[in-house]
Amino acid sequence: MWKAFGLKLCILGLSCLILGSAAENEGNPANEIAKLVNANRTATKLRKLYNNPGLGCMALQFISQCLGNCSSNNTLSCHPPEVDITEVYAPNCGVELATVGIISGYLLGCHWNFLNPEQAFSNVLIRDKRTISLMHGRDLTELGAGFISEKHGGFYWCILFSNETSNSSFVLEEGGKGIEQKTGCFSGSDVPCSSAGMKLLILAYSKLFVFILLLSFLLCY
Ligand SMILES: *[C@@H]1O[C@H](CO)[C@@H](O)[C@H](O)[C@H]1NC(C)=O
Ligand SMILES: *[C@@H]1O[C@H](CO)[C@@H](O)[C@H](O)[C@H]1NC(C)=O
Ligand SMILES: *[C@@H]1O[C@H](CO)[C@@H](O)[C@H](O)[C@H]1NC(C)=O
Ligand SMILES: *[C@@H]1O[C@H](CO)[C@@H](O)[C@H](O)[C@H]1NC(C)=O
Ligand SMILES: *[C@@H]1O[C@H](CO)[C@@H](O)[C@H](O)[C@H]1NC(C)=O
Repeated sequence: MWKAFGLKLCILGLSCLILGSAAENEGNPANEIAKLVNANRTATKLRKLYNNPGLGCMALQFISQCLGNCSSNNTLSCHPPEVDITEVYAPNCGVELATVGIISGYLLGCHWNFLNPEQAFSNVLIRDKRTISLMHGRDLTELGAGFISEKHGGFYWCILFSNETSNSSFVLEEGGKGIEQKTGCFSGSDVPCSSAGMKLLILAYSKLFVFILLLSFLLCY
């Protein structure tokens, strides 16, 4: 009786372990978007783009300006001054001034439902000829992606592309330690997505996870 119960917990523990590692892989939706762009490019024999954290942070800054502008039909009307990309978002991210380069193009989108990165990629960001041809730009060298969600509202995505020399542009001061990222996710860095809600969820989840892991370890052996 006790043994059967133990076995059940053991199996539960092992399933949690598998689910836990699956969830960890989906840790950063912005990184997933960057990976999807690169997978799509390399499948078309185009070069892989460098996933630049400086550009990623700027993409997150950009999309943060668009909160509240997602229409009921999931179209985004957001037109902040384009000079803000290099003149406001770059300094806000702590991008070294001398390394700020040319932005070759950007993609923006929103949706009222949560979409996984694959859905966001094909239904929101890369949805027509114009956006495909931008993504497939031959002279592109790097990209950065940002993702943010509103508390009781929509989900927003942004990708910035550049054609600068990949490893010497949009460099973050002190390796990015200075970024004050309050909410959202950006690609190219180890900085986890942050929002009060998300953080609590991850924290609660990881504590429960460790507990179940310990329990299943005790019961399995
Ligand atoms: C979506 O809504 C916006 C404004 O609410 C409108 O301008 C636009 O035409 C709509 N698009 C479609 C595809 O219905
Ligand atoms: C958001 O939408 C409002 C109303 O349409 C518009 O005035 C504002 O400029 C938009 N914000 C941005 C950043 O484009
Ligand atoms: C690349 O993305 C576009 C737009 O989502 C899609 O139509 C196309 O099939 C993708 N190509 C590959 C090779 O995945
Ligand atoms: C990047 O593109 C701009 C115009 O789109 C061009 O003037 C510039 O020479 C390009 N830079 C590189 C490094 O290809
Ligand atoms: C940057 O790229 C150049 C040429 O692609 C290479 O020679 C150099 O070693 C790279 N520097 C770093 C720090 O990766």
